[in-house]
Amino acid sequence: MFNLSYTKSFMIKQKFTIEVKIIFLILTTVTVVISLLILFFTTKEKELLITLGISPKEIELFINRVSQELILFLGITILVLLIILSILVKKILSPIFKLSLATRTVASGNLDYPIELKTQDEIGEIAKDFTVIERSLKATIRDLRERNKEIELLSKITTKMTTRLNSQEIIGLIIEDLTTELGYDYILVSKLSEDGEYSQDHIFSGDTQMKQAIEDILEEKIENIKAPVSKLPFLPDVSSGKIVIKERLADFIGEVIGESQSDAIQLMLGAKNFVDVPLHIKEKPTYLLLIATSKETITKHDKDILHTFMRAASIGLENALLYEEKTRWADELEKKVEERTKELEEMTAKIAHQEKMVALGTMASRMSHELKNPLAIIRSNVYFLKKKVPMELMKYLDMIGRAEERSNIVVEETMGFVKGVSLKKELANINDCIEEALRSLSHELKKVEVEKEFSEDIPSVLIDVHWIHNLFTNIFINAVQAMEEEGVFHPEGELIGKITIKSCVVNSNIEVSISDTGKGVPQDIKDRIFDPFFGTKIRGTGLGLSISREIIEKHKGSINVFNNESGGATFTVVIPIPE
Ligand SMILES: Nc1ncnc2c1ncn2[C@@H]1O[C@H](COP(=O)(O)OP(=O)(O)OP(=O)(O)O)[C@@H](O)[C@H]1O
Ligand SMILES: [Mg+2]
Repeated sequence: MFNLSYTKSFMIKQKFTIEVKIIFLILTTVTVVISLLILFFTTKEKELLITLGISPKEIELFINRVSQELILFLGITILVLLIILSILVKKILSPIFKLSLATRTVASGNLDYPIELKTQDEIGEIAKDFTVIERSLKATIRDLRERNKEIELLSKITTKMTTRLNSQEIIGLIIEDLTTELGYDYILVSKLSEDGEYSQDHIFSGDTQMKQAIEDILEEKIENIKAPVSKLPFLPDVSSGKIVIKERLADFIGEVIGESQSDAIQLMLGAKNFVDVPLHIKEKPTYLLLIATSKETITKHDKDILHTFMRAASIGLENALLYEEKTRWADELEKKVEERTKELEEMTAKIAHQEKMVALGTMASRMSHELKNPLAIIRSNVYFLKKKVPMELMKYLDMIGRAEERSNIVVEETMGFVKGVSLKKELANINDCIEEALRSLSHELKKVEVEKEFSEDIPSVLIDVHWIHNLFTNIFINAVQAMEEEGVFHPEGELIGKITIKSCVVNSNIEVSISDTGKGVPQDIKDRIFDPFFGTKIRGTGLGLSISREIIEKHKGSINVFNNESGGATFTVVIPIPE
């Protein structure tokens, strides 16, 4: 601003120069004049007295007397001169000193220092000019301070805008800063459509009443409107893409709307001026701000500030939108990568599973084929032997027979898995199938209590009796094995266990539930027990439930499992009754 130290030293130097110069000049002049006078008079008198023949003694006396008179004269002259000089110095130097003091005071920052110089000379003129300079300096400094404040404010706003990464938050900030920091009254922010048209859909507002008023006008809800809404200059001017000041627009609105003025309209008419401010994103007007103000005038300076403000806002908004877009892309990409990875993993697992199945299928098919003939031989020979062997050996033959039956089931399951289940349907009753399965497992079920709650309403349906029998056999054997694994024996060493079988008709379906008191199905394997070759037993193929599901699905039914609250598992089999 000012180099005060330089100004001060300059002033001090000037002061000394002027004072010393004047005093030095006057004293020098006086001394020279006196010396010349003494020299002149003494020389002249001496010469005259010698010429007149006066004795040296008298000359000496005469000179002494003249010298004394001269000194007295000179003393009086100097005194007079000094008085004149001091008056002159006071007259000339005092205003200079005052001016100098004022200059120093003003330079030190006190712009209210008054210069009281009413002289009519050049110094007086300088003092007047100085007062003018002082005033204009004061105004300039005030102006500069104001600008400085504005710059600080804009810098604060810019920092705020450019450090936020949420577009909605920035729009909120725009409204807040325009009202609280820049002193505008009402703000409406509208999102422009893709082709830059004004849309009424996205309006954010600093004032809800004001928003209502504008919407009322735009939607022509105001009665007695004297001009078509499209003709109102009130409609924001998007086409120019620039800040447009609409002075005294409120008066105009007042004229066209006439008397029908709601509170909101009144509020709007309280505004003196409106400004349309487009907000550009990537150089395209994307938002439009309608600013209403009760300020009497909107100056060029206000417009410049708005311009700078909007530039900061659009940079902030652009950054935030870019960030949001980037985050959205990153999220989408991450989701897509996750989906693809999962798909790939599933695919890989499926392929590996299929390959395993093909290999297992080939092996199982061969084994089943190889076992079928020896099993048939065992069965026929047991049949013949039963007719010939004594009774005490009969139980051994029974054991061989059961082992053969069980082996045959395994072979059939395996064949069913390899070739798939093909049905030979006949009309049969599900209850009878269950009874048949229970009968064939009478030996295994000896240690278990079996409770049956069969509904009499179960209709006969078209089913493959062989496979349905197979299905229930699987479930019953699993139940017995689960109870064996649970290992509860009664005092005689026999297992205490219970299988409850219920059948009924529910919504044109036959529903059969088989509950046991075994260990239940552990939660972590519940989803896998119907998969082929999945099993937790040392002996067993893990095909039982997978074939069971295939059998029931071929009958368009379903099979499910849940654990009982009291322990054990319940399998439910649903077979639809055809209409
Ligand atoms: N009633 C049940 N209670 C508890 N777990 C069961 C029950 N039934 C089946 N499971 C579980 O489901 C698994 C798969 O049964 P699935 O009948 O398919 O094969 P498996 O019985 O192990 O072998 P397989 O039936 O070929 O002899 C079993 O190993 C067992 O862990
Ligand atoms: Mg099984």
